[in-house]
Amino acid sequence: MELAEAIKTRRSIRKFKPDPVPREILEEVIDTALWAPSGMNTQMWRVFVLSGEKKKEFNKLIENSIYYLNEKLKRLFKEKMQQMVYGFFKDMGGAPHTIVVAVIKNPNRNYQESEIQAGAALMQNICLAAHDKGLGTCWMTAPLWVEDKVMDYLGISEEWKLVAVTPIGYPDQNPPAPPRKPNVVTWLE
Ligand SMILES: Cc1cc2nc3c(=O)[nH]c(=O)nc-3n(C[C@H](O)[C@H](O)[C@H](O)COP(=O)(O)O)c2cc1C
Repeated sequence: MELAEAIKTRRSIRKFKPDPVPREILEEVIDTALWAPSGMNTQMWRVFVLSGEKKKEFNKLIENSIYYLNEKLKRLFKEKMQQMVYGFFKDMGGAPHTIVVAVIKNPNRNYQESEIQAGAALMQNICLAAHDKGLGTCWMTAPLWVEDKVMDYLGISEEWKLVAVTPIGYPDQNPPAPPRKPNVVTWLE
């Protein structure tokens, strides 16, 4: 797939087929994504891929993050959309796998920001590389609300910080592209 087409046609997928993704394909997606840039090329990131019982246990933890978003959800979305979001959080749209991206904790605010941006670049690459393989993803930061619990579950809460989570699998929906805001670019010459 051409790059611009991949960027424009990637969608957040919230309904998946239950079929597992072969390990080689997940590996290819992650290997490609790990070519993301990072500050001073430190690559201080970690990727977790959860499947089977581990995925179920992990998803149970992040399901609760939706309750922290209640107010904002009500403000932004109509009742039907709110119910859809709640349904999605129940089992991450039925995706067979969950991917977690974490970065090293850094007491320096600027370095921490840089690590998080690198982790975000990695997550974007995962979403695009997955899309290129016909897979769906949904970049999620809602699990940050329960970060301590999820990092404890992964056994890395001392040293590592959660960046984002995504379900990954074969899409069972083809959502329309949400519109993009115009007039966000300022040209200074
Ligand atoms: C930083 C970030 C955090 C997001 N967090 C969530 C989330 O917690 N739950 C969710 O359902 N979608 C989440 N999304 C997906 C956005 O809702 C989605 O990207 C946006 O609506 C645009 O739709 P598109 O990805 O199909 O273009 C997140 C996306 C980004 C980039």
